[in-house]
Amino acid sequence: MNSASLIRELASAGQEQVLQFWSQLDPAGQKKLAGQVAALDLRLVAQLADGYVRNKPPAALPKDIQPVQVYPRRPDGKQKELYRRALQRGQQMLREGKIGAFLVAGGQGTRLGYDGPKGEYPITPVKNKPLFQVFAEQLLAHSRDFGRPIPWYIMTSDMNDGPTRSFFTKHMFFGYDEKNIFFFQQGMMPAFAMDGTLLLAKRDSLALSPDGHGGSLRALHKSGALADMRCRGVEHLSYFQVDNPMVHCIDALFLGLHDLTCSEMSSKTIPKSRPLEKVGNFVMGDGVLQVIEYSDLPRKLATQRNADGSLRLDAGSIAIHALRVSFVERLNTGGQLRLPWHRAEKKVPYVDEAGKSINPDTLNAVKLEQFVFDAIPLAQNPIVYTTERAEEFSPVKKDKGSDSPATCRRDQIRRAARWLTEAGVTVTMKNGKPDAAIEISPLYATTAEQLRQRKAPIHAVQTGAKLYFGANGIE
Ligand code: UD1
Repeated sequence: MNSASLIRELASAGQEQVLQFWSQLDPAGQKKLAGQVAALDLRLVAQLADGYVRNKPPAALPKDIQPVQVYPRRPDGKQKELYRRALQRGQQMLREGKIGAFLVAGGQGTRLGYDGPKGEYPITPVKNKPLFQVFAEQLLAHSRDFGRPIPWYIMTSDMNDGPTRSFFTKHMFFGYDEKNIFFFQQGMMPAFAMDGTLLLAKRDSLALSPDGHGGSLRALHKSGALADMRCRGVEHLSYFQVDNPMVHCIDALFLGLHDLTCSEMSSKTIPKSRPLEKVGNFVMGDGVLQVIEYSDLPRKLATQRNADGSLRLDAGSIAIHALRVSFVERLNTGGQLRLPWHRAEKKVPYVDEAGKSINPDTLNAVKLEQFVFDAIPLAQNPIVYTTERAEEFSPVKKDKGSDSPATCRRDQIRRAARWLTEAGVTVTMKNGKPDAAIEISPLYATTAEQLRQRKAPIHAVQTGAKLYFGANGIE
């Protein structure tokens, strides 16, 4: 785009101030800014400035909010046959290469205070393996067990794409075949000043940030990842977030249930630990299955109890989903991904009209993101399946307190101890906690059941031991 057409386009979106330093920029600076503007959908920017920034969108809470019906972890009598068939179906799909793994890792990790892609963060309790390696080893183990490589789609963002790829290269892709990993970047959204104008982070660049994990559904299409899936015969994606090393990246039963019920988007839930826990809430809103984010669920509803004292809305979202590839394709037809935008007021550094860098100490900007779970109401036959917190959820969100590296390592040890105990190994407990550091590589076992089958070569874990099970046993 030359500068005349840039000016024209920006003016028609009411954003000509973006070029206020244009004449002072060197050719590289002009190229950079022009590239950022060209990547924007300026018609959308104008709509968003009006509908989400200058005016706040009306609160979108459904009028009638009811608990959801969920598939239980263990089937009751009537469901036993369905679960048996679902497990078989999931295993068959894995053997046939119909499942892809989908990791979203484009976020900023600001709360953790880690300066780099979050997936690099060392998290396992004995070997200190990074998050990326934990997922890679799980996927390698399943590929080995099902005799078919699992294609792995990894979403990064402009902020961490280069470092993420370098990290994988440096670690030889953790043993994964490079041609089965597909990195792609999500889109970026510009930050708006409260009056709807786009902020400049520098004279030659917009204040950009990732467009939310909902943007993954657009990026899968734009990047060619969906086309790659079609070529490989991938029919479903197993979606997970970079912050939870306890996730079962692949769960044949869950994937099989998703397929057998003809669901286009399925999700895992756990009962919430407390009414105001910071997780999304699965609800039936005006008759439609959806997630209401913790920040949007009114306190009165979040704290409501049933007659027996249990929480009325207790289906927490742990951001694990199964998505039909044809559904993601459908969401992308017609040009625009029709997910709502979520508005957050933030402090965003910017350059003012005089070209001075300002680090604001009050909220000065609106950032907009799309959330992947907003696709659920658009899906046919969406289902929710219950899993256990102790088995699958201990995210690393911040550096201290709950959801921190310390709680995550503790929970990994507890799970390993439980798996060993179920396999007949004695684990000494002290104050209710295993009195040892234990780590089980997914290459040794991905589930308690697989661990049992492998017949651990010990009868007891010694008090205070540091014990690591690698691919071939205790190392
Ligand atoms: C998220 C969910 C919440 C759920 C919880 C479970 C949202 C808004 N809320 O909360 O409902 O209960 O996880 O742990 O997501 N990401 C991107 N690109 C982005 C933004 C995020 O790839 O633009 C990725 C991050 O890398 C991370 C994940 O999405 O893997 C979660 O994002 P985050 O913003 O940390 O969500 P939470 O508030 O923790």
